[in-house]
Amino acid sequence: MKCQKHLFSLDPHIHYLNCAYKTPLMKSAEEAAIKSIQRERNPAEISVSDFFSIQEEIKSSYSSIIKAAQSQIALIPSTTYGFASVLNNIKGKTNGNAIIVKEAFPSGYYSLENWCKRENNNLKIIHPPQNTRQVGEKWNELLLDAITNDTSIVLIPTVHWMSGLKFDLQSIGQKCAQVGAKFIVDGTQSVGALPIDVEAYKITALICATYKWLFGPYSLGLLYVNEELNHGTPLEESWMNRKNAQNFRSLTDYEPAYTPGAGRYNVGQSSNFILLPILKESLAQINTWTVPAIQLYCKNLIQELKEFVSEIGISFEEEKYFANHLFSMQLTSKLDETRLKENLEKGNLILSIRGDHLRISTNVFNAKEDMDALIQAIKNSMD
Ligand SMILES: Cc1ncc(COP(=O)(O)O)c(C=O)c1O
Repeated sequence: MKCQKHLFSLDPHIHYLNCAYKTPLMKSAEEAAIKSIQRERNPAEISVSDFFSIQEEIKSSYSSIIKAAQSQIALIPSTTYGFASVLNNIKGKTNGNAIIVKEAFPSGYYSLENWCKRENNNLKIIHPPQNTRQVGEKWNELLLDAITNDTSIVLIPTVHWMSGLKFDLQSIGQKCAQVGAKFIVDGTQSVGALPIDVEAYKITALICATYKWLFGPYSLGLLYVNEELNHGTPLEESWMNRKNAQNFRSLTDYEPAYTPGAGRYNVGQSSNFILLPILKESLAQINTWTVPAIQLYCKNLIQELKEFVSEIGISFEEEKYFANHLFSMQLTSKLDETRLKENLEKGNLILSIRGDHLRISTNVFNAKEDMDALIQAIKNSMD
């Protein structure tokens, strides 16, 4: 794949290496959103099927990305909404525990902490091993060892939001299934850029904000649940989630049945007329590019940077635990943080510092110039 910057409207003077913070909007998505705002001038143009058809198109595209049945996907406004929807339907084991990784993103952490209090389960935080730069293999091992017959839930991200470290979803899902634990995965920092297979990994629920690697808008997320959760209780009773919802003439023939699959978990007013067209365009474009091709593009793009960084003695995670779209460089004594911040600013490089790591995230809108500018800023910040 070639660089796709022409499909975005990024400021040509900046090097945007921060998709992990927020995606830039695609031109096609912007046009779709403008059209839908204009449609609001005249509501007569909005038909009954407009409330539902776009949702199905989005679910269909997303189902290809995560390898799930379309009916098992719901539209949510945020990851916390997704966590609450799922956790409300899980009972804790007696004297059980729930597992999370150290420095998990707060949305998942607070949700699970609260669930543990309610269900009288112990929250176990699995720390990475100390005194080693390559923590991937050992951290995954520690996670697997912590999952026992007493484990009610494992809630982990696909990749760590600060360092990009990849968790071994296949092995962890397998272990959860063996001990009867629910496996909840936060896909926000990789779904769309790194392949995932919810069924093969035995994932109970995959929760994902769309404003990063899915090129979507803020305030829109996607929830996948497996069939075990198809009969759960949703957070709210939206009329749109009932089987008769498309029949506007008889909505007060109150209908006890929900739409099948994950339909009951859609947030109220899920046919958000302004935001959904953005996500529809973005997901269609991801499927045109394909997720493996996006990951490969990032891999080729960062090759020179990786070589340069290892020459100066800063190591990355080994390949199996390394995500090419999101990774971090530890700020060691070799790299002066104050000077690095100054040089990033001078070079118009937009990146995040998370903890003691410089977080680098790339996508198909990045080009060699962005990498060259970053290498130069690092060179200028070394002692
Ligand atoms: C791993 C992860 N999960 C979730 C979110 C967003 O959470 P929410 O949808 O609750 O705002 C982020 C944002 O940075 C994140 O990195």
